[in-house]
This record gives sequence, C-alpha cells and structure tokens, in this order.
Amino acid sequence: MGRKFFVGGNWKCNGTTEEVKKIVATLNDGKVPSQDVVEVVVSPPFVFLPLVQSLLRPDFHVAAQNCWVKKGGAFTGEVSAEILVNLGIPWVVVGHSERRALLGESNEFVGDKVAYALSQGLKVIACVGETLEQREAGSTVDIVAAQTRAIAERISDWENVVIAYEPVWAIGTGKVATPSQAQEVHFELRKWLKENVSAEVSESTRIIYGGSVNGANSKELAGQLDLDGFLVGGASLKPEFVDIINSAT
Ligand code: G3H
Repeated sequence: MGRKFFVGGNWKCNGTTEEVKKIVATLNDGKVPSQDVVEVVVSPPFVFLPLVQSLLRPDFHVAAQNCWVKKGGAFTGEVSAEILVNLGIPWVVVGHSERRALLGESNEFVGDKVAYALSQGLKVIACVGETLEQREAGSTVDIVAAQTRAIAERISDWENVVIAYEPVWAIGTGKVATPSQAQEVHFELRKWLKENVSAEVSESTRIIYGGSVNGANSKELAGQLDLDGFLVGGASLKPEFVDIINSAT
C-alpha cells in the first residue's frame, strides 16, 4: 500500500476562543478529498484541544504540540502522554525546531519523548531539520540523520511515526525550500531509513515537509517523489489551508 498523503496544521501559540472556532468552521466547510486519500491533523495550543476536538469534522483529527518525556507526575507546566491519551488526542508533535532551539531540547531528549509517546499509544509527528548555518556548512544530511538516529535508537515500530522535515531557515520566513531542495533531503532521509532501519520502514514511513508552505506553493512541492505531505504553520490558520489539503490530489 502506498503512503497516504498527510497534512498537519501547527497552530503554534496562536488563537483566541473566537479565532479557533472560526478556523474550525472554515475547515469544516472545506471541500477536500476523503480520508482514504489524505490524512488531516490540526494542532492547536493545549488548552484548545478539547474545544477543537469537539467541533472538528470527524474526518480530521487533532494533535498536541508537545508532551512530557516520561510518565506524568510532579512536572509543573507539563502535559503528559497519559493526559493526552485520556482526552482521546491521537497525535502529538515532538521535537519541533522552536522547542529544540528555544527550550534546548536535544536529539536524545526528543528521541526519548518519541519513544515514550509511542509506548502510550500516541501517534507522533517527529520533526527534524537543519539551520541555515548548518546548510551553508554542507551538513544538512548529517544533521537530519543524527536527529533521526536518536529516534531510531529508541523505537522499533515506525508504524505510528511521521517524520516532518522542516529546514529551520524556511520556518515562518516566507523562504520556502525549492521542490528539489526538499526532495533531495527527503530522498536522503528515506535512504537513511533503508540503510539504518529497514527497507520496509523506508518505504512505508511518511516524510512530510514544513517551512513556509502555502496555497500557492504546495502543489508543486506535493509532486516530489519522496514528499508525502506537509506540516504547515502560518498558513494553517488561514482558509488557504484547505487548498494545501487539496494539493494531495
Ligand atoms: O510546524 C510548522 C512549521 O514550523 C512551519 O511553519 O509554515 O509558518 O513556516 P510555517
């Protein structure tokens, strides 16, 4: 079976109750392919998860933007995987570059989080990506391979993992990777999975792209062989998110 197209909307730290209701209403009215063709997941801030889940059309699903690295307890300000599971949240985003950069999440910490979230039954969107400095130094592939290795060393089942390749220099900058730049890294990631995990995992794991994706550039990106969807930031708050979902076909 082929890899089903996946479109994630990462709302980051945005929204009021009214804005959230409006975004959901737009999504609910959107004409998009069936869930057999495209999987759509939106990721509001934690506090809006139950609201969004209660209002969102049944063929779309929700993701948390983070979860704690181990069993919950005395960890003020954190939200555990168990809490997400209890609320019926199916997905979680782990290792977003904003958390790696601003909150010091290391490859190992992200790998531990992925493993723990999976062990609790969550599905994971695991983010990797290089900075501009790293790209200019020619180390893009080494960087994303090291980030992926820290995950691979800690998990054995990849069925519930989507890898999001998000070059840091393209996030929120309006400077999208060209289709060939994205394809090149996606190809290298898939090759890495084949050589270091298995041919089967390499074939079946979805690798999605994130970084200044919008309604105007998504179609061409979606045509790349190893690109299986998107993780969208800014444009996921706007009606054009529906156009991005439609680039699946
Ligand atoms: O998680 C999403 C990415 O950080 C992309 O954000 O679409 O605003 O560049 P952006």
